[in-house]
Amino acid sequence: MPGSFHIRNIPINPGLVLSPMSGVTCSAFRRLIKELNPGAVGLVISEFISVEGLTRQSDRSMAMMRFHPDERPYGIQIFGYDIERMRDAAIMAQDAGADLIDINCGCPAPKVVKKGGGCELMRQPEHLAQMFREVRKAVSIPLTMKMRSGWDEASRNALEIAKIAESEGLEGIAVHGRTRAQLYRGEADWSVVEAVAESVKVPVSGSGDVVDAASAQARKQGKVAGLFIGRAALWNPFVFSEICGGKRYDLRHERDLVLTVLERYLALLREEFHDRVVVGRFKQLVSQMCRGHEWRKDLCRAMKLQDQIDILKRARDSAPDAVRSQSESPTSLQAGAA
Ligand SMILES: Cc1cc2nc3c(=O)[nH]c(=O)nc-3n(C[C@H](O)[C@H](O)[C@H](O)COP(=O)(O)O)c2cc1C
Repeated sequence: MPGSFHIRNIPINPGLVLSPMSGVTCSAFRRLIKELNPGAVGLVISEFISVEGLTRQSDRSMAMMRFHPDERPYGIQIFGYDIERMRDAAIMAQDAGADLIDINCGCPAPKVVKKGGGCELMRQPEHLAQMFREVRKAVSIPLTMKMRSGWDEASRNALEIAKIAESEGLEGIAVHGRTRAQLYRGEADWSVVEAVAESVKVPVSGSGDVVDAASAQARKQGKVAGLFIGRAALWNPFVFSEICGGKRYDLRHERDLVLTVLERYLALLREEFHDRVVVGRFKQLVSQMCRGHEWRKDLCRAMKLQDQIDILKRARDSAPDAVRSQSESPTSLQAGAA
């Protein structure tokens, strides 16, 4: 079992967090993961949301903050450079009902770092300290941050940034054990996560390459409080339960289960988005989770929601045990994942 920890008074139990992923961890995906892993997801966090978008009241940014009560505890992650906008966006996130606010200090994308946000903040410790201070003063709910190990090999300053975060009153830190220069290449270096966890009193979680029970056990060392799980939630949406001692699925051989997950995800996406958006979001899960299944290519090529619905229905009708699986409800699906 991965253990648990607290961010102030919020129990993160178990200490497994659905890592924020832009374009993926919308409310529908977060709900799906919580449903598939009952009791095994300690915290979910929104996709990163632009403070520029929020403070300009962009419909898209405002919608990105929304969540379902079942998602709690729920964190909203915000990104940007401007301190006043960061402060105002944090107030908006608090007003939206988030349990905590997370400041993104790790995004490597050129369009984000060029404007001073994401990982670029790690190269501006004084600016970042002031940002933390202003946001801390403005909101009462817990404030956390997520960063990389540093900008590049020559400037791995996660330790320095963690100390700044702690001294400015932040109450949780997550470290992705890669530098900005690495992007997603190579293996995440968890020695940095452990070193940060040793050097501050606030809970420190690690991120990078937790994909199953074995990798979770290997990385949950020393004072590391929690494990963030990102991409593996797409390859194997049952990974949280697996880490908590549940069944390990080989989804290439779980046709009915995969179809049930897809049907549920499509329904959740349709509650949240216009059809056009649903099509693209749905493909993210299909392309990662459905390897080895004959309908994967067709679903990924489909341009219209109705086409995706028809492909799923055909797959269902042609399944050997179609009658039993059609009557599966999300509840039976949870039981299967336990
Ligand atoms: C498609 C994608 C989008 C991501 N978006 C965010 C984000 O919005 N905020 C963030 O802090 N990290 C983001 N990340 C980084 C992940 O949260 C995580 O730290 C990283 O993928 C390493 O963990 P993993 O090996 O478990 O995926 C993203 C990663 C991916 C692959």
